[in-house]
Amino acid sequence: MRHGIVVVGAGGHAKVCVELLQAMGEKVAYCVGGVDSPDMCVGIPVLKGDAHLESLRQVGYSRLFVAIGSNSLRARLSAVATDQGYQLMNAISPHAVISPSARLGAGIAVMAGAIINAEAEIDDLAIINTGATVDHDCKIGKAAHIAPQTSLAGNVTIGALSFLGVGCKVIPGIQIGEQATVGAGGVVISNICDGATVVGVPARTIKQ
Ligand SMILES: CC(C)(COP(=O)(O)OP(=O)(O)OC[C@H]1O[C@@H](n2cnc3c(N)ncnc32)[C@H](O)[C@@H]1OP(=O)(O)O)[C@@H](O)C(=O)NCCC(=O)NCCS
Repeated sequence: MRHGIVVVGAGGHAKVCVELLQAMGEKVAYCVGGVDSPDMCVGIPVLKGDAHLESLRQVGYSRLFVAIGSNSLRARLSAVATDQGYQLMNAISPHAVISPSARLGAGIAVMAGAIINAEAEIDDLAIINTGATVDHDCKIGKAAHIAPQTSLAGNVTIGALSFLGVGCKVIPGIQIGEQATVGAGGVVISNICDGATVVGVPARTIKQ
């Protein structure tokens, strides 16, 4: 018998990802949450504590999706799970539009209404959230998060672990470094350094 998918996380992002996986025709067996997690996550039983990852692996579960919004925590728990022998699944909405020439990594989430255009590259563990658009030749780094309704024009590069808040716009060819943050609604018209936080229209740096 094929085991269902184990979802790590039991919060709001996990709710969406569980339903994405189900919309793909997958069965989600369990969510694995923290000690304070609710008992159920959109109808899926929640096991509390990361120790459950090892015990589920031992009884044959091998497919896993990390549904945690924090980029750094998502990357860390994915590394733990792959070390335990889990395969990272993708959760891709049937209502997303993805170019056949786009390249997708492992463990990524693409929500409903998202569009990924020609020859874009989405690295492992990235989130392309609801209604976000990633245009041609963009490169989205590992465990980056493009929040709902954010739009990237062509040839934009987003570094690993960076976060673009809800409703951002980025003009063509911009390079955003690693672990950078763009505040909700920001319009990015110049390159952004690693680790910087920028906000506003046009975006200005508030933290280096
Ligand atoms: C950018 C952000 C991360 C900053 O958070 P923070 O480090 O806690 O910063 P603060 O709230 O202390 O704000 C610092 C300053 O930036 C301003 N600021 C914060 N976010 C801003 C935004 N999105 N646009 C414009 N100005 C913003 C604040 O008004 C404040 O200005 P002041 O110093 O003149 O008072 C946060 O405000 C934000 O926009 N998060 C996006 C959340 C989101 O989209 N989540 C989607 C989940 S799917």
